Amino acid sequence: MRRLFPDPAELDDDALVAAYRCPPGRWLRMDFIASHDGAITVDGVSEGLGSPGDRRVFRTLRALADVVLVGHGTAAAEGYHPVLPGSAVGRLRESLGRTPSMPVAVVSRRASLDPAGALVADAVSPTILVTCGASDPDRRAALTAAGVDVLVCGDDDVDLPAALDALADRGLEQVTSEGGPQLLRTALTAGAVDELDLSLSPTLIGGETRLLDGALAGPVRLCLRQVLEEDGMLFTRYTVGGSNLP
Ligand SMILES: NC(=O)c1ccc[n+]([C@@H]2O[C@H](COP(=O)([O-])OP(=O)(O)OC[C@H]3O[C@@H](n4cnc5c(N)ncnc54)[C@H](OP(=O)(O)O)[C@@H]3O)[C@@H](O)[C@H]2O)c1
Repeated sequence: MRRLFPDPAELDDDALVAAYRCPPGRWLRMDFIASHDGAITVDGVSEGLGSPGDRRVFRTLRALADVVLVGHGTAAAEGYHPVLPGSAVGRLRESLGRTPSMPVAVVSRRASLDPAGALVADAVSPTILVTCGASDPDRRAALTAAGVDVLVCGDDDVDLPAALDALADRGLEQVTSEGGPQLLRTALTAGAVDELDLSLSPTLIGGETRLLDGALAGPVRLCLRQVLEEDGMLFTRYTVGGSNLP
């Protein structure tokens, strides 16, 4: 892995961690991989775009975060599991002096999370559901009974800033979000995003799911902070909306 911008340099694993550290306090970064034409899936999942370097960056972002935030559509499509001690992320977290497990927070207006699914049943750090008052109270009760930490944020729809407040109240300030497109659009619309980490796969796909599931009210300006490269994959790091890196 090498840094192209700023300060060109070869990066070992420690330097990769240093390259992705966040400022202290509350921070939301969104992590995506896309083809150069903006597709984010091949046959419905992101795996076909990835590379060993992208998987290292993905693990690094998880290791540095307090919580993973993900839309239910992505958690379901990608078969999400909890982050467990002994996993590659868990070991990296331990090497950084962090707890080896971390919670995954699933955003779902309809409280669609499966109480019997692996993401709930196998979790060491209890899985969090971020939902709203309009979701089915029986579903919420079943998820609470299964050990899920249910956060009701908003009435008719999920209020993302309120959800980030609720996570911060639990000490989960540094959030890495792994999408998907609906969650990215709503988080940008709410002005909640501090950082976008976009891996650009050297591929053209066409016709697949895009980075955003619909138009934004206006352009969101990004400020380029870093570009890494490995095997033709570009790992870009942008701040959003005036957020600053140290
Ligand atoms: N390449 C990449 O980096 C990458 C990253 C992420 C996802 N993906 C791909 O994207 C696809 C998933 O797309 P998607 O549009 O379904 O993604 P999504 O945004 O993860 O999921 C949409 C669903 O999540 C819930 N949700 C998301 N944002 C919400 C909000 N602000 N408020 C309330 N609920 C919210 C809703 O669930 P309910 O219907 O349960 O209410 C909604 O139907 C998959 O194919 C996945 O592989 C790729």
